[in-house]
Amino acid sequence: MSQRIRVIAGNWKMNTVLDEAVELVNGLRYELDEIDTVEKIICPPFISLAKIKELLQGTSIRLGAQDLFYEDKGAYTGEISGSMLSDLCQYVIVGHSERRAYFNEVDEIVNRKMKAALRHGLKPIMCVGENLKQNESGTSESVISEQLRVGLSGLTSSNLMVAYEPVWAIGTGKAATGTYAQKMMAFIRRQIAEIFTETAANELPILYGGSVNPENILEMLAEPDIDGALVGGASLKPGLFLSIVRQAA
Ligand code: G3P
Repeated sequence: MSQRIRVIAGNWKMNTVLDEAVELVNGLRYELDEIDTVEKIICPPFISLAKIKELLQGTSIRLGAQDLFYEDKGAYTGEISGSMLSDLCQYVIVGHSERRAYFNEVDEIVNRKMKAALRHGLKPIMCVGENLKQNESGTSESVISEQLRVGLSGLTSSNLMVAYEPVWAIGTGKAATGTYAQKMMAFIRRQIAEIFTETAANELPILYGGSVNPENILEMLAEPDIDGALVGGASLKPGLFLSIVRQAA
């Protein structure tokens, strides 16, 4: 059994207007707050962060953003910087596969965002993972190795988390098996040891993401290198998210 903290993070993606976000938080904050053996993080859209920050005041639930820009301020219409986020939340998702796929976020951009997050005291959750084609052609490990090598290049801190999200498992209802996820996540931990140190690798939480639900969370958490989950769809349903967190406790 690892000494690392268990983490369950909810990525709401581009869902919920402000009222819906408030309702969602109100539907789970008291029960979630009582679970103290798991780091619970919710990542709503930017527009709801300030309000949700107020609602979570005094609770043990942490707040995260879903992205940030790598510059601190300036003429970057529409972007949100780490300095804007740093007094709103504690975490930020970086390099999610949807950003890589739809917004051309290559590894070098991910790396700049990682640096920006750490510079502003935000804990980044860096996402890596292979797509179906890469999986079927047997290149998953080299893809992930490159994502880690470039994404984490030149960082002076290992105060971060990694989320392994195989793209073929995201939003498909077809989660990886625990055995497969473990194999990939042990590989990720070995890579982290090479990039940082053995100690950093042992301390760093690695989360699994991709169709996590109350039925498969225990299979994941039974594996030694799986420290928690980054949950998409199921994090939008208070009952499902609570059930996942409770089982992780
Ligand atoms: O970041 C979470 C994610 O991409 C997984 O989404 O809906 O498959 O749980 P989902």
